[in-house]
Amino acid sequence: MSRFIVITSGKGGVGKTTSAVNLATAINSFDEDVTLVDVNLTTPNVGLHLGAPVVPITLNHVLSSKAELVDSIYEHSSGTKIIPASLSIKELKILNERDLITIAKDLKKISEIVIFDSAAGLGAEAKVALQIADEIILVTNPEMPAVTDALKTAKLAEDMGKQVRGVIVNRVRNTKSEMSLKSIKEMLELPILGIVPEDNKIQEALSMRNAVFFTHPKSKAAKAFRKIAANLLGKDMEEFNEGIWKRLMGRLRFRALVKS
Ligand SMILES: Nc1ncnc2c1ncn2[C@@H]1O[C@H](COP(=O)(O)OP(=O)(O)OP(=O)(O)O)[C@@H](O)[C@H]1O
Ligand SMILES: [Mg+2]
Repeated sequence: MSRFIVITSGKGGVGKTTSAVNLATAINSFDEDVTLVDVNLTTPNVGLHLGAPVVPITLNHVLSSKAELVDSIYEHSSGTKIIPASLSIKELKILNERDLITIAKDLKKISEIVIFDSAAGLGAEAKVALQIADEIILVTNPEMPAVTDALKTAKLAEDMGKQVRGVIVNRVRNTKSEMSLKSIKEMLELPILGIVPEDNKIQEALSMRNAVFFTHPKSKAAKAFRKIAANLLGKDMEEFNEGIWKRLMGRLRFRALVKS
C-alpha cells in the first residue's frame, strides 16, 4: 500500500520544495523506495533544485497525453525517482483532479512512498494535490503571516476530510522576534514534525543544484531533514544507511529510467 505524502503551505516561499527534495532523498537513504513528484505546475522547482532544469519528458507531457508516466520518471544517483514538471510556459498545464487521480493509480504501482511538492495557498492547484493525499505535511516559517496562512490550509484540509500529519517549521533562527514553537503548535493545533534551522548551506546546495542532504550532510539542515524522515518512517536515526550516502556524494544526476 503506497503512502502519498503532500508537502504544502499556506504562504509561498516558505520551503516546500526544499523540504520535499530533502525529505525524499533522506527517506531514500533509509533504503525506502520513494518517488518525488512536482505537482506545482505553475511554478515548478523540483528540477531546478535537483540539477535537471530541462528534461525531455515531464509530468506536463503525461497530463497532455503526449507521454506515458513511466517516460517522465528520472532517477538520480540515490535511487530517488523524480517526476519533474515543465518550466516551459508553452507546456503549462492546469492540474485537474481527474488527471491526477489517473496518475495516482499508476504511481501506486511505482513506489511505496510518493512525495508531492505542491503549490502554496488555497487555489485549485493546491487543492487538487490535497485531494489525493494520504498525509499532508504543512511547511511554515516561524512568522505570523506564514502561520496564519498555514492555518487556512489546515482548515481546508480538514474540510476535505484529509489528515494533516504535522508541521515543519522552517528557517528557525531562534530570535526573539520569531514565533515560538509553542505558539505555532497552539495556533495550528497540529504536531510539530520537525524544526529546520535557517542555514545558508541550503542556499549553497541550491546554487549547486543539489539537495543539502547530499552537499552538506553534516549541516544542521541535513540533520533536521534526516530526523524528520526517520520520524515519518518510524525508524531510528541509526538505521540511516551511511554506506549508500557515502556513495552518493557528489553531484546528483538525472537519468531517464529505461522502459522495460
Ligand atoms: N532553512 C533554510 N535556510 C535558508 N534558506 C532556506 C531555507 N529553506 C528554504 N530556504 C530558501 O528559501 C527559498 C525558498 O525555498 P523553496 O523554494 O523551498 O520554497 P517554496 O515554499 O517551495 O516556494 P514556492 O511557494 O515558490 O514553491 C529558496 O531560495 C531556499 O534556498
Ligand atoms: Mg516550491
